[in-house]
Amino acid sequence: MNNKLIAPSVLSADFGNLQRDIEMINNSEADWFHIDIMDGVFVPNISFGMPVLQAISRHANKLLDVHLMIINPDQYIKTFAQLGAGSLTVHYEACTHLHRTLQAIKAEGMKAGIAINPHTNVNLLEDVINDTDLVCMMSVNPGFGGQSFIERTYDKVSKLKEIIVRNSAPTLIEIDGGVSDKNARQLVEAGADVLVAGNFVFSAKDPIATIAQLKNIVSH
Ligand code: DX5
Ligand code: ZN
Repeated sequence: MNNKLIAPSVLSADFGNLQRDIEMINNSEADWFHIDIMDGVFVPNISFGMPVLQAISRHANKLLDVHLMIINPDQYIKTFAQLGAGSLTVHYEACTHLHRTLQAIKAEGMKAGIAINPHTNVNLLEDVINDTDLVCMMSVNPGFGGQSFIERTYDKVSKLKEIIVRNSAPTLIEIDGGVSDKNARQLVEAGADVLVAGNFVFSAKDPIATIAQLKNIVSH
């Protein structure tokens, strides 16, 4: 159960104190920064774009795990690489030529991720699993922080883990949405490798301690 990763979601940070919140993550046991980019078309919300990512990139000292909730992601792959993304995740539901998109992301030196919405069956990933560094499994409908975790996710994680093992794929499973101390343990037991947490971390009185708490839950 070692090497499970925690990725606080910057979407829940205080944007008026962004540098402070980034330093908090730098000084915590968090492993990655999870960065949500929303276009108001693929999802019914707009988060932030390139200038804000650039500001985050300037201060962050851990991998930037960028989750694109946008249509036509291909046109921005190079730009996200230049802005310092360490992994770039596109939505299965937004890509017509997903295999090509994954290769393009890797060609820019980033880890290539696929995010799937709660309604998307994990079996659809089998033919690209060996080309995928990360599957971001949405455990809420994407678009907003602070939503309730969808319980069916555990089952999907186990099924995806089977596909990964059967194909000897290097793919990490990331869970995104409604993660807390209530479900972290069961998620890693089902096969999750990376837990994203927004509201649970940033609404806590002591976010650093809350990140440590999650890290502790998934490491033992
Ligand atoms: C939702 C985003 C998530 C979100 C998670 O569309 O992709 O990354 O920030 O936030 P919580 O942990 O609050 O559900
Ligand atoms: Zn996300």
